[in-house]
Amino acid sequence: MKLLVFAGSTRTGSYNRKLAHVVARMAAAAGAEVTHIELADFDIPMYNADLEARGTPADVMRLKQLMYEHPAWIICTPEYNASYPALVKNTLDWVSSPVKGDPVWGDDFRSSRGKVVGVLSASPGALGGLRSQSHLIPLLMNLKCWVCPTVFALSRAGDAFDAQGELVADASKKRVQAVIDEVLDAARRLAP
Ligand code: FNR
Repeated sequence: MKLLVFAGSTRTGSYNRKLAHVVARMAAAAGAEVTHIELADFDIPMYNADLEARGTPADVMRLKQLMYEHPAWIICTPEYNASYPALVKNTLDWVSSPVKGDPVWGDDFRSSRGKVVGVLSASPGALGGLRSQSHLIPLLMNLKCWVCPTVFALSRAGDAFDAQGELVADASKKRVQAVIDEVLDAARRLAP
């Protein structure tokens, strides 16, 4: 199963980027063919329809293609103001915007339709970014994704990782593993 993993943060010491690394390692150990990307490696401007009319940026096309090629995704999102960050919204807005007049990419949801998506979050706070998930999940459903019912919010994220970037608590590892297992199982059943 081809699994795409990314975090909704580009911060150097990002907890969500650390969590995405953990997910990538655990999913690979579970037999998934993992593609772990960093959004910082994609040169994606703030969405602007006038800019888009001059041509969809090359890195948006690269991301559209990558997402299209992966039947399963896991997203690790930060929480900003009880929602998910603009980085995540902007990225997914670009991905879902059709390339006007293109016979293939004129389909808004070509990259996202039918994808099985697991949602995780991490925050230094007590709720672990859970409220970001409650906003991100409806967006993913609008993109025609199947969102897995098992989610995990890593609270007190500043204390959750050791120096090697591994999760300290076995309970947290089990919760992450449960999301991975559900995503891979559902993707095997639902992938075309
Ligand atoms: C935050 N943060 C935050 N945390 C939280 O649990 N609930 C929240 O509503 C918010 N709101 C918020 C707004 C803004 C503008 C910022 C910049 C930050 C704190 C946030 O969880 C923290 O900065 C994390 O470290 C961000 O995730 P990464 O970059 O570590 O993955």
